[in-house]
Order: sequence, then structure tokens, then C-alpha cells
Amino acid sequence: NRPTVFLTGPLPPECMQRLADSTNFQVNSLGRDLTKSELIEAVRQVDALICFLTDKVDADVLSANPNLKVVANYAVGFNNIDVATATERKIAVTNTPDVLTDTTADMACALIFSVARRVVEGDRLVRSRRWNGWAPLQLLGTDIMGATIGIIGTGRIGRAVAERAKAFRMNVVYWNRTRLDPETESKLGIRYCELGELLGESDFVSLHLAYSNETHHLINAARLSQMKPSAYLINTARGAVVDEKALVKALTQKTIAGAGLDVFEHEPALEPELYEMDNVVITPHLGSATTATRTMMGDMVIENCLVACAGNRPPNLVNTSVF
Ligand code: GLV
Ligand code: GLV
Repeated sequence: NRPTVFLTGPLPPECMQRLADSTNFQVNSLGRDLTKSELIEAVRQVDALICFLTDKVDADVLSANPNLKVVANYAVGFNNIDVATATERKIAVTNTPDVLTDTTADMACALIFSVARRVVEGDRLVRSRRWNGWAPLQLLGTDIMGATIGIIGTGRIGRAVAERAKAFRMNVVYWNRTRLDPETESKLGIRYCELGELLGESDFVSLHLAYSNETHHLINAARLSQMKPSAYLINTARGAVVDEKALVKALTQKTIAGAGLDVFEHEPALEPELYEMDNVVITPHLGSATTATRTMMGDMVIENCLVACAGNRPPNLVNTSVF
């Protein structure tokens, strides 16, 4: 009795093979997100749902099938799922921590370097055919070495960014809801400060928080105004941690120097002004997007489905009270 699984979109080929070997699955191959009623219809048929951060798995979806055992999110963040309702209905919710930590930390660094050294502007200049050769004052940027980075959120990804920042010889400060223990602080070589102090000191502010009601618009107009005019905001976490309209205002009024953004408040839509800003580097939510990492994430969601469907506690259970 192989479990039945619905996937809201295709996973890497190796993962599809593993699914074919171990489950009876169906996959959305429309090349677009499912509507709510399509998702409800799909969930009715299966033991397990494999979904993405772009799928809103709300109470109606979770209530569509009393036999649904597990919702396995192909992401570390799971703010797209109504976990409270899942827990009430004894549906396991799982995510994909750890395997994407380094990959996402690399992406934060890619944005830091791109925005500081004007990599994308330089690329655009060359491709415009208007580049006239080396010039002493052309596209001058900001040094990384010796700069202060403020890391907001020191979970796995935030700590992995801290390690990288130390290797680049940056000065690292952090803020987290709960302060790290002194051994971890000294091992990482990072210093705790209050959020306002961090914002006032940092040349780069990098966000690594899960999205929740508590972190919604954590970076708002007031917080942005605490940043230095020379500072850059980097976001590889969730768009709505930042008030995107307030960010546009800060960038327009030059109260901050620029931003490196991989996530947006209303993906795939952006505040329209962002498209035009040269001091903003924009990537389309690529934090975990390497072949190796996306394959490991796929293996992880499949393992979580198989274990949960066999009636056991899946390894990456989010709502631990279900088991
Ligand atoms: C991506 O945003 C993730 O949460 O894995
Ligand atoms: C957040 O989930 C992290 O892995 O840092």
C-alpha cells in the first residue's frame, strides 16, 4: 500500500524518480500555481501534499480531506501554511531546514557583494555598449572588509552569514529575539546589540528571520530611519518582514544607500519604483536555488511524506504536538 501524494509542481528529476518508486503520485503540470479550489480538489484524493511557499495551505485546504496525513513544505519557511489548523486536525506539517542553510547564506553574501561593488550596474553598463573603458571614478562602491554587518535573526542561516562575514573580515553585530549563549557568541566572534543600536551602527543590515505576525513589517519606516545614509539593507528571508513601501521611500529620499532583495512583500509583484532603482539589486527568490540543494530538499520532503504516511513521526516535523 503505497501512499498517495499530490505535488503542486515538479521536483528535480531524481526526486520524481524516487516518488515514482515509492508512491502513487500526481503532479500539477500546468506550469502555474493552483487556484484555491484546484488545491482543495487535489488534496481530497491523497494521503500527503507536497507544496511550495507559493501555495496558500489554509484551513479550507486542510479541512478538505479528513484523511490527509501530512503537508510537506518544500521550503524552510512555512508561513504559507495554517499550522494551527493542521495541528487541530492532526495533520503533520514538515519543512526543509539545514540543507539550504549554506546555500541561502551564500545568496545573502552574493547580494551584499553585488550591491556594494555595483556588479549589476556594471553588467548593465557594459551590455549597453556605452562603456568607454576604465575610468578612475567609474562605479565606485563600498568596501566589505572592515565594514559592520548587522545580522537580524541568528537561526541557522543568520549564523552561517555571520561565519562568512567573519571570513570577509567584517565586524559582526546581531540582534535576535533571544540572545545567543556566550559560548556561541564568542565562537562566532559576534556581538549582541539592541535592534536600534544595530541599525544605527551597521553598514549592511541582513535579515534572517522567519515570517510571522511578530516579524511582520519589523523593518518599518521608523526602523529604516535609524539606519545610516550609507547603509544597505539585504533581505533573503521573507518580503513582508520589511514594509516595502517604507523601503521605497527610504531609498528615494536617500536615507539609506541601497538594498539587495531576494524576497518581496507581494511576490511576484514589486513596489513599482524598485524596478527603476540602480542602487537596488533584485533577484527572484533564489535563496535555496542550486541544483544540489533543491535535490536535497526534494529528498527531504519525500522522506517526511513516507515516514508520516507510515504513521511515524517525520524527521522535520514542525507541529511537534501532532506526534
Ligand atoms: C525559501 O524561501 C524557504 O523558506 O525555503
Ligand atoms: C531559519 O529557519 C534558519 O534556518 O535560519
